[in-house]
Amino acid sequence: MQISINLNPDSKQSLQSQVFESIREQILSGRLKSGMLMPSTRMLNEQLGVSRNTIILAYDRLIAEGYLYSKETVGTFVNPNLPEDSLMLMEDTLKYLGDLSENTIQKINKNTSKRHPVAFQGRVQDLFNPFHDQLEIDFWVGRPDPESFPINIWRQLTLKKLSHSGSSMTEYHDAAGIFELRKAIAEHLRPARGIDCDPEQIIIVNGIQEGLNVVARVLIKQDTLAVMECPCYQGAAYTLESYGAKLIPVPVDKEGLNVKKLPDKKIGLAYVTPSHQYPLGATLPLERRVRLLDWARETGAYIVEDDYDSDFRHQGSPLTAVAGQDKNGYVIYMGTFSKSIGAALRLGYIVLPTELVGPARTAKALMDNGHSWLDQAVLTEFITSGAYVKHLRRIRRKYLNRRDSLVKALQKYFGNIKLSGLEGGMHLVWHMPDSLPESKEVQKIAQDIGVGVYSLPAAAAHDFGKKRYSKRNLLFGYSSTSKEQIVDGISRLAKELK
Ligand SMILES: Cc1ncc(COP(=O)(O)O)c(C=O)c1O
Repeated sequence: MQISINLNPDSKQSLQSQVFESIREQILSGRLKSGMLMPSTRMLNEQLGVSRNTIILAYDRLIAEGYLYSKETVGTFVNPNLPEDSLMLMEDTLKYLGDLSENTIQKINKNTSKRHPVAFQGRVQDLFNPFHDQLEIDFWVGRPDPESFPINIWRQLTLKKLSHSGSSMTEYHDAAGIFELRKAIAEHLRPARGIDCDPEQIIIVNGIQEGLNVVARVLIKQDTLAVMECPCYQGAAYTLESYGAKLIPVPVDKEGLNVKKLPDKKIGLAYVTPSHQYPLGATLPLERRVRLLDWARETGAYIVEDDYDSDFRHQGSPLTAVAGQDKNGYVIYMGTFSKSIGAALRLGYIVLPTELVGPARTAKALMDNGHSWLDQAVLTEFITSGAYVKHLRRIRRKYLNRRDSLVKALQKYFGNIKLSGLEGGMHLVWHMPDSLPESKEVQKIAQDIGVGVYSLPAAAAHDFGKKRYSKRNLLFGYSSTSKEQIVDGISRLAKELK
């Protein structure tokens, strides 16, 4: 049997979650009947032209969430006892379910009115790229070069730490992170980012994403105002919003956040990416940084500085982080090892003004009682042995060469083009001329020939609805593609677009 599922390859939602959502919606609306046998994963992957793994993962999630159940050797069926029977969905949650009809909504509410309401409301953010394995050349953004992962030293340090671990593997540790790592980070930050902080001000987190959750927990109440760059990083916007923040977009121009447009009212925090604006790539000039700090002092807002890829500065002298220029304790600084070592490590840190350290440590402890000791111990020695600085030096050179290859290839095949974000980081942005299709269409055309290039929403960027920035900007990550792949990918794209 066939079921009808429409997939949108341009959607910011992964194919897997589109399949999941579509089947769930059809079950809830009664189109897929209770107890019905579902098509096999093989049939469905052939019908939809996506990988079988995508379907398997969507089915696994539908089973885990109670929409389907499977009988060994027989097949997968629609569950007669749906999870919605035990949940009352609130109006706003229903809104996020998208295209559910009024009729379906009424039906769900009628069926679920007895149970406690679901309180969480969040928009989908997906950093996992479901297309990656299907693409021959992927300019996916913000991924370190897999071949540069320091595998040998990581293995040696892991074995060393394990063999001397004593009770370290069986004890709970300080939820703020092991002191030696916080000290190593504080010492690294002084020369690298101009930040002079005490290790006690640092909290180790599960990447910046968790840092944002910790900070939101500490600073956001319902309707707290939060200034966001427009466009901005989805992970930040959706996290703050999910804690009840009201987001105030402030436009970004070619120099980054337009500080003249900062609102003149009581603001809780401003989330900014001054080193390499995400997604458009500008480096915020010194005068704007000074104005931003003055504005924070005037309005009482905290500045959340996300310094995600500042380890890579390709031209011009490195600018001290805004946190390094802050003399009054208004900046919360966030750093990550996702870009400099590997995203799967899930290791980052926040540096907090002293009055926020206690609440943030408590929030972190309530979230997860601290990060894995082994990862922290290995990273500590990776930094203190000097291996981290050497690793950075090596990959900086590599990324600079790749950036240059990408710029050259784009110019060779597309002529005199408008690029931004070249000064640093791991991706650049092409502002495409009107003669080319819109970026989401170019993304699709490229995908069809095995090349991954990304429109803003597909690259986890949020444009606050008006598409002003999304239409013509196309993102190219270059850190995880070789020079040969870069040249090949751009020549294929050019051939297809001409
Ligand atoms: C601007 C920005 N901030 C933060 C992150 C997430 O970093 P982490 O892996 O440390 O959670 C990303 C990931 O791509 C990013 O682009």
